[in-house]
Amino acid sequence: MCFNNQNILKLCKNKKVVLAPMAGITDGKFCKNYKDLFAIVTIGAYDLDNITQLASEKIVKRGRKEFLYNLNKFDELIKKEINDARKSNALVSVNVRFKDIDKALNNIKSIGKYADILELNCHCRQPEITQLSIGQELLKKENNIILKKFLEKIKLNINIPVFLKVRANFVPVNELINNLNNVRPYFNGLHIDCFNPGKNYPDLDYLKEIRYNFKDKIIIGNNSINSIEDAEKMLKYCDFVSVARCVLKGNIDWIYKLNIGAQNIGRIY
Ligand SMILES: Cc1cc2nc3c(=O)[nH]c(=O)nc-3n(C[C@H](O)[C@H](O)[C@H](O)COP(=O)(O)O)c2cc1C
Repeated sequence: MCFNNQNILKLCKNKKVVLAPMAGITDGKFCKNYKDLFAIVTIGAYDLDNITQLASEKIVKRGRKEFLYNLNKFDELIKKEINDARKSNALVSVNVRFKDIDKALNNIKSIGKYADILELNCHCRQPEITQLSIGQELLKKENNIILKKFLEKIKLNINIPVFLKVRANFVPVNELINNLNNVRPYFNGLHIDCFNPGKNYPDLDYLKEIRYNFKDKIIIGNNSINSIEDAEKMLKYCDFVSVARCVLKGNIDWIYKLNIGAQNIGRIY
């Protein structure tokens, strides 16, 4: 199946909330517990090459959850995960990490065969991943050439929309806008964690700048959304909001309520 941006918006029109990825947690089995709740479910992060799987093994050893699996059987694995995730009746996005695009390419093609969206992780801040100059490191100016190489190859090899999961305030907003402008033809959407250092609420000013500069892209806003009020504030500057920790807390009733009136909520930019 292949969707363009207008199709994605149309298909999700009465659902405004996306399930954000949580490594070691959000797999197909997790998603199928949430029927008719989310517009998009994001599974992963999945590692697509050996070096990132090794990094994940190290992360697990120090007590954090990650998905660990046999990379030689990735096609089989991801097909099953996506099929399970589809039981949520949401579009399925797959959040991925890799260091070497050539080694990851077959696995990228598998995702292209089965998923609705591929989401490149430019967000992870686990040291085992950032030491590889990937995750949030891909947002830096000096790594923009690597990001471009990744995205060019992905676009050449798959036919589904490509989103970037990014973190606000890792680089200043103008730097992020410049860097994203350099790769503009190669992505369809931005999933932005509006991380606000030292604060427990999202940086909506950063999001506003991103919305203003990328009006043609689908934007999923994220960070500390726990209620209809939080979601409505953020939805002024994005097409969807996403949630992670609030789902773990079981705080989801408000999402059903939001979906009922969702057609009346819209972005102002
Ligand atoms: C346990 C956990 C694991 C996460 N793993 C990932 C991941 O694999 N990939 C990713 O892009 N973001 C990951 N995130 C970040 C979330 O997708 C989200 O951006 C962040 O939690 C802020 O949203 P929230 O306030 O709704 O929790 C993770 C978050 C948590 C809590």
